[in-house]
Amino acid sequence: MSVLAILGGQWGDEGKGKVIDWLASQADVVARYQGGANAGHTVVVDGNQYILHLIPTGILHGGVKCIIGSGVVVDPLALVEEIEYLRSVGIEIGENLVLGKRAHLIMPYHKVLDSHMEELLGINRIGTTGRGIGPAYSDKAARLGVRISDLFDEKILTERIRVSLAIKKRLLGDIELSENEAQALDEAHVLDVCSQVRKTLGPHVRNTDAEINDALNGNKKILLEGAQGILLDLDMGTYPYVTSSNTGVGGAMSGLGLPYRRLNTVFGIMKAYCTRVGQGPFPSEMGEVEAGLLREEGGEFGATTGRPRRCGWFDAVAARHCIQVAGMDAIAVTKLDVLDNQETIRVCVGYEFEGERVTIFPAETSILEQCKPVYTEFPGWMSSTGGVRDYDALPPRAKDYIRGLEELTDRPVWLISTGPSRDDTICIHNPFDGDGMRGN
Ligand code: GDP
Ligand code: IMO
Ligand code: MG
Repeated sequence: MSVLAILGGQWGDEGKGKVIDWLASQADVVARYQGGANAGHTVVVDGNQYILHLIPTGILHGGVKCIIGSGVVVDPLALVEEIEYLRSVGIEIGENLVLGKRAHLIMPYHKVLDSHMEELLGINRIGTTGRGIGPAYSDKAARLGVRISDLFDEKILTERIRVSLAIKKRLLGDIELSENEAQALDEAHVLDVCSQVRKTLGPHVRNTDAEINDALNGNKKILLEGAQGILLDLDMGTYPYVTSSNTGVGGAMSGLGLPYRRLNTVFGIMKAYCTRVGQGPFPSEMGEVEAGLLREEGGEFGATTGRPRRCGWFDAVAARHCIQVAGMDAIAVTKLDVLDNQETIRVCVGYEFEGERVTIFPAETSILEQCKPVYTEFPGWMSSTGGVRDYDALPPRAKDYIRGLEELTDRPVWLISTGPSRDDTICIHNPFDGDGMRGN
């Protein structure tokens, strides 16, 4: 019996998709538990790139059951598009994809609200992905949401949409809407969208909480696929510059209806440096020239929106915070190869705020914004690690860097990624053989 949670240990885009794909060959079930199509998880297999937004990364492995759990917010059109895309490239999607009845839907009007909210926020905008995530989770919490199960009861569906739209129209007041936006707030249009997706989604809709518990009781290997990262967590992240869900273990348990005692291992995924998309504090952010070079080297452009990612050095203060609040047992370090040409590699080991040294990740975003990074330096290895699969084949200075990260985070590195392809992976310890809840 083994339940393994894979979480992002930074601001998202850590390479979770790559690591999950690598591990999925050993799994029976892969389950997404939060977030929505704001996620973009990239996998490269035999030179072919796949970007998954809603469907669990395990879908690329035949025989793995892929669950979209209750805590996910599902844009039904995006999901249908993803199913059709995967089928068009020869991926089989049938019984292996399960969509939870309790999951909430992202409706066309949620995207309109997302973009107008950003506009109204002006310089305080979050820099969302524009996928309607915040408004859909707001509706869920306000008990105004529409759930997957509602799609299959026309009377309830019509009523839920009518009530929700009436309130939205009042809230939007006299904000001017484009033709498309007005359509997204039109009841008949929204109902039409629902009827368009019913046929494709219908065969996949099941009780995911029951299914995942059956898998658990059948001693199956279950992999929990986190989206975003702990620094984007609604409670533990850099609020308000976060996403609208709990990206950590709490989100996994509540989003899937899993008993928390059954979780065996929490594996945190971290890049060998840091990136962030959207607004918000980023103490170890590089200057534009340096960031530009790393962005090119690492292909740091959003997998969902194509936006250039902000780049910075590995932040050990932020990493320790993530490890602590998520109870990470061990970490994976990804994109080591992207640092191959750095003469000197910096790691942020503390912050300076008003002349004082800070080593605990501040809760106040206003303080974090003013924190100056304190760096330690590692000499670069200045040779290629791209595609290395054996730890002993790494240059000594790359090994020193990995050992340095282990010391600074107080966690073992179990896996190193040296390229985007599935096989560009060094496995030091298989996370499925985990060592229990050590991180807690
Ligand atoms: P996720 O959201 O955490 O799954 O990460 P993304 O897919 O958004 O971003 C990670 C990007 O880095 C993708 O383009 C991956 O193909 C790529 N990638 C993952 N691991 C490595 C690696 O070890 N080296 C390099 N060069 N690229 C990697
Ligand atoms: P994966 O799973 C990186 C960021 C957005 C924005 C903030 C809120 O691929 O790691 P939202 O649309 O969620 O309301 O936006 O969160 N964000 C991500 N950044 N990777 C992601 O997902 C992200 N999902 C959301 O850029 O700053
Ligand atoms: Mg991503």
